[in-house]
Amino acid sequence: MIDVAELQPRAALAPQAAAPMAKEIFTLKKQLNAVILAHNYQVPEIQDVADFVGDSLGLAQQAAKTSADVIVFCGVHFMAETAKILNPEKIVVLPDRDAGCSLEESCPAPALAKLQATNPNFWTIAYINCSAAVKALCDVIVTSGNAERIVNAAPKDRDLLFVPDENLGQWVMEQTGRQMTLWKGNCYAHVEFQRERVLAAKIQFPDAKIVVHPESLRAVRALADAVCSTEKMIAYCQTSPARRFVIVTESGIIHRLRKECPGKEFLCAPVFNTLQLPTDHCRCSECKFMKLNTLEKVRDCMKNLAPRVELPAEIIQRARRPIERMLEISARPMENAG
Ligand code: 13P
Ligand code: SF4
Repeated sequence: MIDVAELQPRAALAPQAAAPMAKEIFTLKKQLNAVILAHNYQVPEIQDVADFVGDSLGLAQQAAKTSADVIVFCGVHFMAETAKILNPEKIVVLPDRDAGCSLEESCPAPALAKLQATNPNFWTIAYINCSAAVKALCDVIVTSGNAERIVNAAPKDRDLLFVPDENLGQWVMEQTGRQMTLWKGNCYAHVEFQRERVLAAKIQFPDAKIVVHPESLRAVRALADAVCSTEKMIAYCQTSPARRFVIVTESGIIHRLRKECPGKEFLCAPVFNTLQLPTDHCRCSECKFMKLNTLEKVRDCMKNLAPRVELPAEIIQRARRPIERMLEISARPMENAG
């Protein structure tokens, strides 16, 4: 039997501590003409000061159309880089420079270039969770929210190479029927979800819908009522007649789900606690990179206009094309998706 306490996400910063800092952030936002973009995995108090909270696709779309002078990107480094690539003339800051990603780490640009050199017919599709240098080597970028659509639109006469998430790549192959060569990277947080624990949750809560992120393992996806990006999870839970959901992704998403789906119950899927540590200290359903950001660091990066994302002009120029291709395909009416 799963301890339900284990299924609860980390508590938010006490409102009395968050309120004065939030006020400072709103003042700085006005002074700087800044926009605050936050990923669905950010802590509640950061989500609550953001102008837009969303998935990687929504955040890239917001970054592409913002008229702000300063972009404060509360997520991880590759997301802030994407905002900079789309806005080379703007200042892009992030709360913690060390907010990386295990998928990005798994795929260094020189190793990708070496693999690409083995087949001139490769057409490279990169999940947005990669460095700007990797994006610069690719034909198109995808997010979990549009990967299926973009792979369906890929040229039929090319050999598809999908980097760096093997699990998302497998899922997209299952959805589209397109064969792809897959890079062997993974999200260290999502592969912590194991079939046995999710199955136990399903048995304990038979009325609950199981909602799984496609970065999860195939055996876990097989238990899902819905496999989708974090933004689509919100829409699924809003429209589903079910009252209870087990959410198999990073626990930060629970804040929005509770706000936007009142009267419904959300449980974080349990993970294997491989180190046998008390769950108060080992919250494996939290991404340690996303959770480096705090409200205090958001305020400080706005005060100091640092850390800033800076990229070589040549990388910006080459990485921009596959991102713009993604945004263009995503904006097409569904019947012309290709
Ligand atoms: P989405 O919010 O785009 O589904 O991405 C999940 C993720 O792991 C981002 O790092
Ligand atoms: Fe990367 Fe996974 Fe963290 Fe997302 S949740 S930033 S994919 S390590």
